[in-house]
Amino acid sequence: MKRSEINAIMADADAFMKAHGFNLPPFAYWTPEDWSTRGDEVQEIVDRQLGWDITDFGSGDYARVGLFIFTLRNGDPANLAKGGGKLYAEKVLVVDPDQVTPFHFHWRKVEDFINRGGGKLVMQLYNSTPDEGFADTPVTVSVDGVRRTLPAGGSLVLNPGESISLPSGLYHKFWAAESRVLVGEVSLVNDDNTDNRFYEPVGRFPEVVEDEPPLHLLCTDYPRYYHPAKS
Ligand SMILES: [Fe+2]
Repeated sequence: MKRSEINAIMADADAFMKAHGFNLPPFAYWTPEDWSTRGDEVQEIVDRQLGWDITDFGSGDYARVGLFIFTLRNGDPANLAKGGGKLYAEKVLVVDPDQVTPFHFHWRKVEDFINRGGGKLVMQLYNSTPDEGFADTPVTVSVDGVRRTLPAGGSLVLNPGESISLPSGLYHKFWAAESRVLVGEVSLVNDDNTDNRFYEPVGRFPEVVEDEPPLHLLCTDYPRYYHPAKS
């Protein structure tokens, strides 16, 4: 993706979130120059990959296959083995009509998606087989505490206010219908480097063509701009 496209998506999504009364934390608005002066007090943001995360999944066509994410909080996956500490994560997503996040499941992460406002969020689901294919078995999920069973590959629609809880190992693909949706994600700790199984191989993070300076850094930009002095 071109940096100019990423910058424009950031500004546009930020305005959409604000219009829905959803405000981001201060670090969202730090400039690359701000990042270059930060010390190790901000290490948690870097280690947990908090912040802006905009991807076209390598498609080259963000409007068709892409996702806007801002990670608000995330625990250390090592906490799972310890059985304590911060075990959770929260993200906010902006999903456009017919903009697809491709089929994937998580080996470990359990996640809830909440339609916080806007259009409808459509979610298509398959159980996975032991060899990570699509199972032909019915899918059972919890939609706001109500158990729902769908046929394999079935879809359900979440209207504003509705949410779904996805267990680990469940293939999901989603997009918006009618208009842009503000989506909340509340989950077990998130590790995008080891816990995503995409049905078809995709690039989770985009290759960035630097055609203009970053407005704000993506979570994958931190190593290039953030160099805290060793104490
Ligand atoms: Fe997911």
